[in-house]
Amino acid sequence: MITDPFDPGPTGRFRTLCRRYPDDTVFRGADGFRSLWGPVFYRGRANGTARLLVVGQDPAQTEAFTRRILSGQAGRRVQGFVEKLGFTSSYLMVNAFLYGIYNQKMALPHLNDPEVVAYRHRWFAAALAPGRIEAVVTFGTPAFEAWRTFVTSPEGADVSVFHQRALHPTADKPGGPISRRDLLDNWNVALGRLHARVQQPDEARPLVPYGADFTPAELPAIPSRDLPAGLPGWMRDTDFWATLGDPPGTERANISVEVPPA
Ligand code: URA
Repeated sequence: MITDPFDPGPTGRFRTLCRRYPDDTVFRGADGFRSLWGPVFYRGRANGTARLLVVGQDPAQTEAFTRRILSGQAGRRVQGFVEKLGFTSSYLMVNAFLYGIYNQKMALPHLNDPEVVAYRHRWFAAALAPGRIEAVVTFGTPAFEAWRTFVTSPEGADVSVFHQRALHPTADKPGGPISRRDLLDNWNVALGRLHARVQQPDEARPLVPYGADFTPAELPAIPSRDLPAGLPGWMRDTDFWATLGDPPGTERANISVEVPPA
Protein backbone atom coordinates (compact mmCIF):
# COMPACT_ATOMS: atom_id res chain seq x y z
CA MET A 1 0.00 0.00 0.00
CA ILE A 2 1.37 3.42 -0.91
CA THR A 3 0.68 6.08 1.70
CA ASP A 4 2.89 8.91 0.39
CA PRO A 5 1.63 12.41 1.15
CA PHE A 6 0.68 14.52 -1.88
CA ASP A 7 -0.03 18.15 -2.64
CA PRO A 8 -3.73 18.71 -1.92
CA GLY A 9 -3.58 21.80 -4.12
CA PRO A 10 -3.62 25.56 -3.76
CA THR A 11 -5.92 27.39 -1.35
CA GLY A 12 -7.29 30.94 -1.08
CA ARG A 13 -5.62 33.51 -3.33
CA PHE A 14 -3.39 30.83 -4.84
CA ARG A 15 -6.44 28.82 -5.86
CA THR A 16 -7.95 31.89 -7.49
CA LEU A 17 -4.71 32.36 -9.43
CA CYS A 18 -4.99 28.80 -10.75
CA ARG A 19 -8.63 29.39 -11.69
CA ARG A 20 -7.96 32.44 -13.81
CA TYR A 21 -4.71 32.90 -15.67
CA PRO A 22 -3.35 34.28 -18.94
CA ASP A 23 -3.72 32.11 -22.04
CA ASP A 24 -1.89 31.71 -25.34
CA THR A 25 -2.87 35.19 -26.47
CA VAL A 26 -0.44 36.45 -23.80
CA PHE A 27 2.12 33.60 -23.88
CA ARG A 28 2.06 33.23 -27.66
CA GLY A 29 3.52 30.26 -29.48
CA ALA A 30 4.82 32.74 -32.09
CA ASP A 31 6.79 34.46 -29.29
CA GLY A 32 8.65 31.28 -28.30
CA PHE A 33 6.29 29.91 -25.62
CA ARG A 34 5.13 26.32 -25.36
CA SER A 35 1.59 27.33 -24.56
CA LEU A 36 0.49 23.85 -25.73
CA TRP A 37 1.80 22.41 -22.43
CA GLY A 38 -0.56 24.62 -20.48
CA PRO A 39 0.51 26.63 -17.46
CA VAL A 40 2.62 25.09 -14.68
CA PHE A 41 1.96 27.22 -11.64
CA TYR A 42 4.12 26.37 -8.62
CA ARG A 43 5.70 23.76 -6.38
CA GLY A 44 5.51 23.66 -2.60
CA ARG A 45 3.10 25.31 -0.22
CA ALA A 46 0.53 27.37 -2.14
CA ASN A 47 -1.47 27.79 1.07
CA GLY A 48 0.10 30.73 2.91
CA THR A 49 2.49 28.70 5.10
CA ALA A 50 5.69 29.15 3.05
CA ARG A 51 8.63 30.96 4.67
CA LEU A 52 11.02 30.78 1.72
CA LEU A 53 10.07 32.02 -1.75
CA VAL A 54 12.03 30.54 -4.66
CA VAL A 55 11.82 32.02 -8.16
CA GLY A 56 12.90 30.03 -11.23
CA GLN A 57 12.59 30.69 -14.94
CA ASP A 58 10.13 28.52 -16.88
CA PRO A 59 8.90 24.91 -16.78
CA ALA A 60 10.62 22.29 -18.94
CA GLN A 61 9.33 18.96 -20.24
CA THR A 62 9.47 17.14 -16.88
CA GLU A 63 7.38 19.85 -15.28
CA ALA A 64 4.87 19.70 -18.14
CA PHE A 65 4.31 16.12 -17.00
CA THR A 66 4.37 16.47 -13.22
CA ARG A 67 2.38 19.75 -13.31
CA ARG A 68 4.67 21.25 -10.68
CA ILE A 69 7.61 23.54 -11.43
CA LEU A 70 11.24 22.73 -10.69
CA SER A 71 10.75 18.99 -10.52
CA GLY A 72 13.31 17.76 -13.10
CA GLN A 73 17.11 18.04 -13.03
CA ALA A 74 17.00 21.76 -12.18
CA GLY A 75 14.38 21.06 -9.55
CA ARG A 76 16.41 18.40 -7.76
CA ARG A 77 19.39 20.75 -7.64
CA VAL A 78 17.14 23.46 -6.17
CA GLN A 79 15.66 20.94 -3.72
CA GLY A 80 19.14 20.18 -2.46
CA PHE A 81 19.80 23.92 -2.10
CA VAL A 82 16.69 24.66 -0.04
CA GLU A 83 17.26 21.56 2.12
CA LYS A 84 20.80 22.81 2.91
CA LEU A 85 19.04 25.83 4.44
CA GLY A 86 16.84 23.49 6.48
CA PHE A 87 13.72 24.06 4.37
CA THR A 88 12.20 20.63 3.90
CA SER A 89 8.62 21.76 3.27
CA SER A 90 7.93 25.45 4.05
CA TYR A 91 8.84 26.85 0.66
CA LEU A 92 6.92 28.06 -2.34
CA MET A 93 8.49 27.97 -5.80
CA VAL A 94 7.19 29.98 -8.73
CA ASN A 95 8.69 30.71 -12.13
CA ALA A 96 9.18 34.05 -13.89
CA PHE A 97 7.18 32.56 -16.79
CA LEU A 98 3.95 30.61 -16.38
CA TYR A 99 4.50 28.60 -19.58
CA GLY A 100 7.50 26.76 -20.94
CA ILE A 101 9.81 28.37 -23.48
CA TYR A 102 11.09 26.75 -26.68
CA ASN A 103 13.01 29.77 -27.97
CA GLN A 104 14.68 31.93 -25.31
CA LYS A 105 15.69 34.64 -27.74
CA MET A 106 12.07 35.11 -28.74
CA ALA A 107 10.46 34.61 -25.32
CA LEU A 108 12.78 36.39 -22.84
CA PRO A 109 12.00 39.89 -24.21
CA HIS A 110 8.40 39.27 -23.02
CA LEU A 111 9.46 39.02 -19.36
CA ASN A 112 7.97 42.40 -18.61
CA ASP A 113 4.99 42.46 -20.96
CA PRO A 114 2.18 44.11 -18.98
CA GLU A 115 -0.05 41.01 -18.69
CA VAL A 116 2.90 38.75 -17.87
CA VAL A 117 4.00 41.13 -15.12
CA ALA A 118 0.51 41.71 -13.75
CA TYR A 119 -0.14 38.00 -13.28
CA ARG A 120 3.32 37.26 -11.85
CA HIS A 121 2.93 40.12 -9.38
CA ARG A 122 -0.31 38.54 -8.13
CA TRP A 123 1.65 35.40 -7.25
CA PHE A 124 4.37 37.39 -5.48
CA ALA A 125 1.75 39.40 -3.60
CA ALA A 126 -0.12 36.24 -2.58
CA ALA A 127 3.12 34.63 -1.36
CA LEU A 128 4.00 37.68 0.74
CA ALA A 129 0.50 38.47 2.03
CA PRO A 130 0.55 36.23 5.13
CA GLY A 131 3.75 38.02 6.22
CA ARG A 132 5.68 34.78 6.73
CA ILE A 133 8.24 34.85 3.92
CA GLU A 134 11.69 35.33 5.48
CA ALA A 135 13.77 35.31 2.32
CA VAL A 136 13.50 35.19 -1.45
CA VAL A 137 16.00 33.43 -3.68
CA THR A 138 15.98 33.99 -7.42
CA PHE A 139 17.70 31.50 -9.72
CA GLY A 140 18.95 33.00 -12.99
CA THR A 141 18.68 36.41 -14.61
CA PRO A 142 15.01 36.35 -15.67
CA ALA A 143 14.00 35.41 -12.11
CA PHE A 144 16.22 38.18 -10.70
CA GLU A 145 14.75 40.70 -13.15
CA ALA A 146 11.24 39.54 -12.33
CA TRP A 147 11.83 40.15 -8.61
CA ARG A 148 13.50 43.51 -9.28
CA THR A 149 10.53 44.57 -11.41
CA PHE A 150 8.21 43.62 -8.53
CA VAL A 151 10.06 45.45 -5.76
CA THR A 152 10.38 48.59 -7.88
CA SER A 153 6.66 48.55 -8.81
CA PRO A 154 3.86 50.16 -6.79
CA GLU A 155 2.67 46.67 -5.64
CA GLY A 156 6.11 45.85 -4.28
CA ALA A 157 6.90 49.27 -2.84
CA ASP A 158 6.55 48.16 0.81
CA VAL A 159 8.39 44.86 0.38
CA SER A 160 11.56 44.69 2.45
CA VAL A 161 12.07 40.91 2.57
CA PHE A 162 15.67 39.73 2.15
CA HIS A 163 16.48 38.76 -1.43
CA GLN A 164 19.43 36.74 -2.68
CA ARG A 165 20.19 36.05 -6.33
CA ALA A 166 21.91 32.88 -7.50
CA LEU A 167 22.90 31.37 -10.83
CA HIS A 168 20.25 29.27 -12.56
CA PRO A 169 20.52 25.57 -11.52
CA THR A 170 21.43 24.48 -15.04
CA ALA A 171 23.67 27.47 -15.88
CA ASP A 172 26.60 25.04 -16.22
CA LYS A 173 25.84 24.03 -19.79
CA PRO A 174 28.45 21.73 -21.41
CA GLY A 175 30.91 23.86 -23.37
CA GLY A 176 29.43 27.08 -21.93
CA PRO A 177 31.19 29.83 -19.97
CA ILE A 178 29.94 28.68 -16.53
CA SER A 179 31.46 25.50 -15.12
CA ARG A 180 29.97 23.22 -12.47
CA ARG A 181 32.54 24.67 -10.08
CA ASP A 182 31.47 28.26 -10.93
CA LEU A 183 27.84 27.31 -10.30
CA LEU A 184 28.59 25.70 -6.95
CA ASP A 185 30.90 28.52 -5.84
CA ASN A 186 28.10 30.97 -6.61
CA TRP A 187 25.59 28.82 -4.73
CA ASN A 188 27.90 28.56 -1.72
CA VAL A 189 28.04 32.37 -1.49
CA ALA A 190 24.25 32.59 -1.87
CA LEU A 191 23.71 29.87 0.75
CA GLY A 192 26.02 31.60 3.21
CA ARG A 193 24.06 34.85 2.99
CA LEU A 194 20.69 33.12 3.19
CA HIS A 195 21.71 30.86 6.06
CA ALA A 196 22.79 33.91 8.07
CA ARG A 197 19.37 35.51 7.55
CA VAL A 198 16.93 32.65 7.91
CA GLN A 199 15.41 32.49 11.39
CA GLN A 200 12.85 29.71 11.16
CA PRO A 201 13.82 26.87 8.86
CA ASP A 202 11.88 23.61 9.17
CA GLU A 203 15.04 22.10 10.68
CA ALA A 204 17.98 24.13 12.03
CA ARG A 205 21.04 22.74 10.25
CA PRO A 206 24.68 23.79 10.15
CA LEU A 207 25.49 24.95 6.64
CA VAL A 208 27.45 22.34 4.69
CA PRO A 209 28.76 23.97 1.50
CA TYR A 210 29.00 22.23 -1.87
CA GLY A 211 32.32 20.68 -2.90
CA ALA A 212 33.60 20.35 -6.46
CA ASP A 213 30.42 18.60 -7.68
CA PHE A 214 26.93 17.67 -6.49
CA THR A 215 26.98 14.59 -4.28
CA PRO A 216 24.02 12.16 -4.57
CA ALA A 217 22.69 13.51 -1.23
CA GLU A 218 22.72 17.01 -2.72
CA LEU A 219 20.30 15.88 -5.43
CA PRO A 220 17.39 14.65 -3.29
CA ALA A 221 14.14 13.30 -4.64
CA ILE A 222 11.33 15.81 -5.07
CA PRO A 223 9.14 15.27 -2.00
CA SER A 224 5.88 13.47 -2.82
CA ARG A 225 4.02 16.12 -0.80
CA ASP A 226 4.95 18.64 -3.50
CA LEU A 227 3.35 16.68 -6.34
CA PRO A 228 -0.19 15.73 -7.37
CA ALA A 229 -1.61 12.51 -5.93
CA GLY A 230 -0.46 9.27 -7.45
CA LEU A 231 2.77 10.27 -9.19
CA PRO A 232 5.08 7.23 -9.22
CA GLY A 233 8.34 7.42 -7.25
CA TRP A 234 10.58 7.22 -10.34
CA MET A 235 9.22 10.57 -11.52
CA ARG A 236 10.59 12.13 -8.34
CA ASP A 237 13.97 10.50 -7.94
CA THR A 238 15.35 10.07 -11.47
CA ASP A 239 16.25 12.62 -14.13
CA PHE A 240 15.74 12.75 -17.86
CA TRP A 241 12.81 10.33 -18.12
CA ALA A 242 11.08 13.03 -20.13
CA THR A 243 12.93 14.35 -23.16
CA LEU A 244 11.94 16.52 -26.08
CA GLY A 245 10.18 14.54 -28.78
CA ASP A 246 11.38 13.66 -32.25
CA PRO A 247 9.75 14.97 -34.39
CA PRO A 248 9.54 18.09 -32.20
CA GLY A 249 5.98 19.04 -33.18
CA THR A 250 4.30 22.43 -33.01
CA GLU A 251 6.12 24.80 -30.64
CA ARG A 252 8.62 21.93 -30.14
CA ALA A 253 6.10 20.67 -27.61
CA ASN A 254 6.24 16.90 -28.21
CA ILE A 255 7.55 15.01 -25.20
CA SER A 256 8.96 11.51 -25.12
CA VAL A 257 8.76 9.59 -21.83
CA GLU A 258 10.90 6.57 -21.05
CA VAL A 259 10.39 4.80 -17.74
CA PRO A 260 13.84 4.27 -16.18
CA PRO A 261 14.92 0.68 -15.48
CA ALA A 262 13.96 -0.45 -11.97
N1 URA B 1 12.11 24.05 -14.44
C1 URA B 1 11.43 25.07 -13.88
O1 URA B 1 10.28 24.94 -13.52
N2 URA B 1 12.06 26.25 -13.74
C2 URA B 1 13.33 26.44 -14.11
O2 URA B 1 13.86 27.54 -13.94
C3 URA B 1 14.02 25.35 -14.69
C4 URA B 1 13.38 24.17 -14.84
